[in-house]
Amino acid sequence: MSKNPIPFLILVVTILGVSCNDTLKKEHDSSITATTKTYSGSPMTHAFDKEIDSIIAQMTLEEKSGMLHGTSMFTTAGVERLGVPELKMADGPLGVREEISRSSWAPAGLDNDYATYYPAGAGLSAAWNPELAYVFGNSVGEESRARDKDVLLSPAINIIRTPLGGRTYEYFTEDPFLNKKLAVPFIVGLQDNDVAACVKHFAANNQETNRDFVDVQIDERALREIYLPVFEAAVSEAKAYSMMGAYNKFRGEYLCENNHMLNEVLRDEWGFEGVVISDWNAVHTSVNSLESGLDIEMGTPKPFNEFFLAAPLIDSVNAGKISETEIDKHVKRILQLMYTLKSMGGEERVKGSISTEAHFKDAYDIASESVVLLKNETNLLPINTSEINTIAVIGANATKKNALGGFGAGVKTKREVTPLEGLRNRLPRSVKINYAEGYQERYAPKKEAKFGDVTHQRAETIDELNSQLVEEAINAAKNADITIIFAGSNRDFETEASDRADLDLPFGQGELIDKVLAVNPNTVVVMIAGAPFDIQKIKAQSSALVWSWFNGSEGGNALADVLLGTINPSGKLPWTMPKDLNDSPAHATKSFPGDQTVSYDEGLLVGYRWFDTKNVEPLYPFGYGLSYTTFDIKNVQTDKTGSYSERDIIYVSVDVENTGNKNGKEVVQLYAAKKDSEVERVAQELKGFEKVMVNVGQTVTAVIAVPVKELAYYNVDKMAWVVEPGTYTFKIGNSSRDLKQEITIHIN
Ligand code: BGC
Repeated sequence: MSKNPIPFLILVVTILGVSCNDTLKKEHDSSITATTKTYSGSPMTHAFDKEIDSIIAQMTLEEKSGMLHGTSMFTTAGVERLGVPELKMADGPLGVREEISRSSWAPAGLDNDYATYYPAGAGLSAAWNPELAYVFGNSVGEESRARDKDVLLSPAINIIRTPLGGRTYEYFTEDPFLNKKLAVPFIVGLQDNDVAACVKHFAANNQETNRDFVDVQIDERALREIYLPVFEAAVSEAKAYSMMGAYNKFRGEYLCENNHMLNEVLRDEWGFEGVVISDWNAVHTSVNSLESGLDIEMGTPKPFNEFFLAAPLIDSVNAGKISETEIDKHVKRILQLMYTLKSMGGEERVKGSISTEAHFKDAYDIASESVVLLKNETNLLPINTSEINTIAVIGANATKKNALGGFGAGVKTKREVTPLEGLRNRLPRSVKINYAEGYQERYAPKKEAKFGDVTHQRAETIDELNSQLVEEAINAAKNADITIIFAGSNRDFETEASDRADLDLPFGQGELIDKVLAVNPNTVVVMIAGAPFDIQKIKAQSSALVWSWFNGSEGGNALADVLLGTINPSGKLPWTMPKDLNDSPAHATKSFPGDQTVSYDEGLLVGYRWFDTKNVEPLYPFGYGLSYTTFDIKNVQTDKTGSYSERDIIYVSVDVENTGNKNGKEVVQLYAAKKDSEVERVAQELKGFEKVMVNVGQTVTAVIAVPVKELAYYNVDKMAWVVEPGTYTFKIGNSSRDLKQEITIHIN
């Protein structure tokens, strides 16, 4: 075995150079893996700019304005006589949304708009695998083309600031580094199919409460270091073709008319060339929004001609309040997008495919790496099917489907394997399954929230259990060798447009779990949810605890494979699970949800940055997740002992030995810390990770590349990223609270 993989990796890097989607992955020998993969997107084309100018010169003002606003729920107008097609959009993050009627939110009622339901964002991020993020983007990109879409309103990547966030399940993570490492390959994969990503929601849209008007105040350093990196990487690395302006205000201005954010930061600083599309009904002015950098106004039903960028804009031009040259600038961007996507220009365009077995397999692969094993004290898992005759399966979540539901974009799919179906598919016939519902999803309708023509029921849950269902569940558990309780939430409970009130498990599940655990200690609790819940008591009482997500078409099969051991779990939490809501930064600082204004008083200390800096013990830390095997992480080395300079890449190698008896994947995580800094520093920050497959008895060397510029902080006075010289400590392990190795490096 080679003792020094790093020069080898550098050699690979040097030979291949840096180009689109280079795979710098080699097996040096059976025991060495050096993995660094970079993803970069192709920029918008300018090859047709002259043609575009001549098309614009022939357009009427009405035709131009038609391209700048929704003329149906998910399209803007084309100009048929000039060969300009409509711009066709679809949600979203879980897969291509079913077709919506042209002038209302009602489903169009088609029978050819079925799609693959992919794991929600939190599931993807729990896999900690950028290659799977590319697979996801590429797969859903093919589906978007098969549905003849130009823009997919995805990925949704706002930072998870509070565990209560209604869209936590849809977003990726609390950490800016993990966020961008997943968002970039996702966008590149999507756009490789002649479809534009619409990266959302730009920016600082971290709560649903008052989202339509709340004015977000963040200090500049936290903005740059926590909330913006993913958007910047989406522009500079992935070359995202469109961006969605958020509902909320930022420093006093709505984000769809925020000159600083849209023109100065997004375009001037980062070089964004694409199209800014508003969130649905997020525009408030005609002239101001356009001049501030918005290109397209989308919205909810009202006569489309009344949109701000429709008749009112035409009136403004006629009144001399805005020049037609300004209008042309925005129309030109849209036409450039169309040529880039080949919806104009006559070049052959990706045709795509939808609901294929290959895409279901993509959804399966992501789901199977996303399941997080939280506890397995008595080795109840994986379930040894040769030793059991009967399994009791308990809980409404065993049969709950989540492709549709709640408020916001879902997917109409022909396949959603529930956890119960997954077990039925995977268990041998000799094992009998006794299913008992145990608890029911019940709500007491309380208040209604209107959104366009859709009324959303925001409801209180009913937490009283039905005694007959409890009795059935207890009987099933008593008479089973093993019980699995499927608990958690669903997409009706965790939903866009409202944040949760607390971390309590709904529908009386806590009480049910208590009762079942009392009669059968061989009980595995499986949580299916997209956001943290208070599971402190369950953690203390149950010996086996698993976390799964709204996990796509194949979620039930993937989960069964993990429970039965065909798949060795390798998921890691993409956020911190607090013991108490008030331990989380936004709540500890009493700065959520605000009222007219919300001030992010925790500053840089978002997620684990708070817990680690303030020494608060979480229930489960960021990056945490067990395996059915054990790994030893050792022999950390850097590629040189001397100092590094600002342009260098630090290659850190670390041996990962599988010391257990099952092949498996481990996520090696690298956190950087800087003592004696001239500025405020958080205790540690994720700056690299690699997911490696290690067979039993094997040692794999993971090589993590840390560009020195990743260690920079944002210097507010200089308005620039600054790498502070000096000593940094790199801590390496398999969770933010299990860091087994340390090495120091010097920057000159
Ligand atoms: C959401 C967006 C979504 C849009 C269109 C809005 O309510 O915030 O994420 O893309 O609706 O459905």
